[in-house]
Amino acid sequence: MKNTLYNQAATHSNSDRPPIWMMRQAGRFLPEYREIRQNHSFLDMMKNPDLATEITLQPIRRFGMDAAIMFSDILVTAEALGSDLDFVEKKGPVIANPIRSMDDIKNLPDVDMKTHAHYVYKTLNNLSSELKNTSTALLGFCGAPFTVASYMIEGGSSPDLRTVKTMMGHEPEILHALLNKLADISIDYLHLQIEAGAEGVQIFDTWAGHLSYLDFQSFSLPYIKKIVDGIKAKHSTPISVYSRYSSNFGPLFETLNIDVLSVDWQCDMAQMRQSLRPDLALQGNLDPLLLLGSRDTIKTRTLAILDSMKGDPGFIFNLGHGVIPQIDPDNVKLVVDLVQSYT
Ligand code: CP3
Repeated sequence: MKNTLYNQAATHSNSDRPPIWMMRQAGRFLPEYREIRQNHSFLDMMKNPDLATEITLQPIRRFGMDAAIMFSDILVTAEALGSDLDFVEKKGPVIANPIRSMDDIKNLPDVDMKTHAHYVYKTLNNLSSELKNTSTALLGFCGAPFTVASYMIEGGSSPDLRTVKTMMGHEPEILHALLNKLADISIDYLHLQIEAGAEGVQIFDTWAGHLSYLDFQSFSLPYIKKIVDGIKAKHSTPISVYSRYSSNFGPLFETLNIDVLSVDWQCDMAQMRQSLRPDLALQGNLDPLLLLGSRDTIKTRTLAILDSMKGDPGFIFNLGHGVIPQIDPDNVKLVVDLVQSYT
């Protein structure tokens, strides 16, 4: 195992400065990404291991983050289960055959994640050798069952998950059946990513913040737990969970056998540290849209987070959600430099 700042912080044993990486650090805010994107669709890029390797490394070369997250998407598992997936400009993911009935569930294919996502493991193999003699940690990921199921049911992004909630209120057994399938294939998927070189994995539950406290316990938490327990049965690789608008679920997340909780910008990191089990590493939580602000504002807010977590052995600096395409790369550099020179 490589000794990285990411690994030290994730295992709550970092005595150095905090590591930093950013969700969506590879993407359209980078001119070198847009140049490749001109000639390829997003799906082509993520399914081509040479391109996916190159794009993963772009932000590492430009900014020197302490972790590289493989270039891919959480909807790989949806596609494996037969979702007819496309990424439409200005709209995001669109699924032409959404799940609406128990018959749709019965027709889901049996999936072998080893063959289905072969390009992902090849990308990780490439990255693992590229990063072998560096201090940059390599991260894999998958979507949490609730978030991936939301896309599969809504047929794309939805502001309030109205179709999912209608299903929850009428035929929750359809949703549970889908969540179970997704949890099962996500276990295989993350095992294979770890075996291909991932030194940490993050489970993204971006949409869980739309659930009530009770429904989160019914429709999200048990399926993340199933994945986490499945992975921990074989590997000690650090597991991180991210969720947006859901720091109030902290007391539920901390019951999971996870190593890192990645929180959004609404909560106070120091307060989270006080209220959660002390061996849980925390990742976050600069408001990504603050990167649209002045350099002074960015600096003040970045230092405020650093100061509030100063000396914490289990703190990983990140944004509270992903970098958006409109961000000036120089502002990302400012944050990385501030964190990496912090004493
Ligand atoms: O973080 C990284 O740099 C690694 C790559 C990564 C992408 N998506 C690349 C991507 C990761 C980890 C994701 C996860 C993901 N994908 C999530 C969870 C985290 C989050 O952002 O909430 C979700 C909900 C998705 C689903 C998804 N994929 C959406 C909603 C969109 C459209 C939004 C957008 O920014 O266009 C995508 C497309 C996508 N995924 C792009 C990238 C770089 C843009 C593709 C393009 O070039 O058009």
